[in-house]
Amino acid sequence: MSDVITQDPVYQTDALIAQDIDAYLDVHQHKTMLRFITCGSVDDGKSTLIGRLLYDSKMIFEDQLEALQADSKRVGTQGGEIDFALLVDGLAAEREQGITIDVAYRFFATEKRKFIVADTPGHEQYTRNMVTGASTADLAVILIDARKGILTQTRRHSYLAHLIGIRNIVLAVNKMDLVGYDQAVFDKIVADYAAFAQSIGISAFTPIPISGFKGDNITARSENTPWYQGPTLMAHLESVEVDATTAAAKPFRMPVQWVNRPNLDFRGFAGLIASGSVKPGDAVRVLPSGKTSTISRIVTMPGGTGPASGTGGDGDLDEAIAGQSVTLCFADEIDCSRGDVIAVADNPPEVSSQFEATIVWMDDEAMLPGRPYWLKIGTQSVSATVQAPKYVVNVNTMEHLAAKTLDLNAIGVAELATDKPIRFEPYAENRTLGGFILIDKISNRTVAAGMLHFSLRRAQNVHWQATDIGREAHAALKNQVPRILWFTGLSGSGKSTIANEVEKRLALMNRHTFLLDGDNIRHGLNKDLGFTEADRIENIRRVGEVAKLMADAGLIVLTAFISPFRAEREMVREMLPDGEFIEIFVDTPLEVAEARDVKGLYKKARSGALKNFTGIDSPYEAPTSPEIRVNTVEMTPQEAAEHIIRKIMPLK
Ligand code: ADX
Repeated sequence: MSDVITQDPVYQTDALIAQDIDAYLDVHQHKTMLRFITCGSVDDGKSTLIGRLLYDSKMIFEDQLEALQADSKRVGTQGGEIDFALLVDGLAAEREQGITIDVAYRFFATEKRKFIVADTPGHEQYTRNMVTGASTADLAVILIDARKGILTQTRRHSYLAHLIGIRNIVLAVNKMDLVGYDQAVFDKIVADYAAFAQSIGISAFTPIPISGFKGDNITARSENTPWYQGPTLMAHLESVEVDATTAAAKPFRMPVQWVNRPNLDFRGFAGLIASGSVKPGDAVRVLPSGKTSTISRIVTMPGGTGPASGTGGDGDLDEAIAGQSVTLCFADEIDCSRGDVIAVADNPPEVSSQFEATIVWMDDEAMLPGRPYWLKIGTQSVSATVQAPKYVVNVNTMEHLAAKTLDLNAIGVAELATDKPIRFEPYAENRTLGGFILIDKISNRTVAAGMLHFSLRRAQNVHWQATDIGREAHAALKNQVPRILWFTGLSGSGKSTIANEVEKRLALMNRHTFLLDGDNIRHGLNKDLGFTEADRIENIRRVGEVAKLMADAGLIVLTAFISPFRAEREMVREMLPDGEFIEIFVDTPLEVAEARDVKGLYKKARSGALKNFTGIDSPYEAPTSPEIRVNTVEMTPQEAAEHIIRKIMPLK
């Protein structure tokens, strides 16, 4: 997920900078970092609060400050006093020009700590932005307007923050000045929130009465709230334990980002430590291979690049912990590559290919159950399909509702399967090895973020059984090379006719073939499927699996299905060895197929009697680079078949 800092850090811890820049930088480098998110809408005073934090930590440029004073007089809502909201909203206007993901990250620092605050919009249509902003946060500040109390959006933000795994929640009861700093108001809000928090599994939170506008309990303890004994917001932010600290106490895991091999004498594995700690001499295990070794060296990567000479020298560490980027060297030469996970030898993470997960859908186009997406988790990237959700969550009421798919901003629980086993941990235990994103294979857009719950038991209890007569033996017995001749094109384009002609020619050549035809398969194996996008995807998935089995049996398989979507045709291609899948585009313009209208279906579709008809009100995605293209306007079916035979020969 995006990790952009939109504002350069400017430090005005003046004295130290002026006197001893090295000392200053050293102090700064060793400060811990807290990433937090603010939730609430502008009305709750969010902009004012962030502006106040930036201002009080002296993070505002001098010229910005002058402009702010001028603007506050001119358009401010605070009667000439500095209107901090103008500062943040001004920055917000800048970021609105950005098109990708609407989350502004601001950087500031105090004497004790560095901070990155993700400022995300509060409305429901921005759920995906909030999830993006929260994905790396250690803490969430849930802002409440003291006059309004707990609102639907408070519940929504809290639920999302908790879902994303944020364990530090601050309930900032803002605008206390407007309720006369009344303790009873504060206590009531805290009690209401406590009841709600418990219902969604938030076990603890820190309530603080503040006024972002007046500055009460932000950096200085307020005289207006003598009844409040807790920390100021800033003191809390400066002292709260960050996730990295708790992550360091967990078992060691590091996903490998890249293999660093500058010369023959050095081979190191670079990555960010997701959890635990590591020392030279520690026994480790590389997953998925399961090979073990011991750590010989921990090399740091100054400036993010590898050790210049490969000999490291003074870059070596005695220990490294969660949150640090390091390069690890092994005592033995064992295989380890990008996407692998290095873990403590006696307590490695699980490996599985089927899961239950929570998924937050972030794309305008709804999820298609069964469609293969790229799933990225840690540094691993695999192909994955998601089933129709078990339920979706109404983020305002926390109710579970039935649903067939996930639309933009929907949050649902579903089962998913990856095409290869992955190393993982439940998200609740490890955000790096349990959090994933889904990417559309065609558009390359990030369409969802998700959190793995657990591996499905059936994945653990079903294994591959080895058989002695393998696919090579089957093919050799038939004296041919298996192929899948995948015909795709509109209804009435001529797929079945041409496939039939090709099969006849192959039979005359003593080839062992089988033709899987759309209409026929829909009478048997797939008679439970209709023509929605999800059903067509399932249709092609099953046919792909059957065709693959037949190819394993050594057959030359011909399939004649509209197979309207690129993603599923590519899915079948990826299931097979290179070169075995031959995509044949039966290229017939819609007008021509419609004019032929062999089955009278186009007429029905045009009259509205038949819905979701391909080419009319359901899309057809033509192949961009098929192995073979036949033009049925210029060629007869016999000519097209001859052309295909010539292209696929020899078949040994
Ligand atoms: S696919 O889209 O899922 O690949 P498939 O090839 O199995 O479709 O089935 C297509 C055949 O089903 C068409 O040739 C046509 O005879 C019939 N059919 C019935 N309804 C539709 C429809 N809505 N869209 C396309 N074809 C349909």
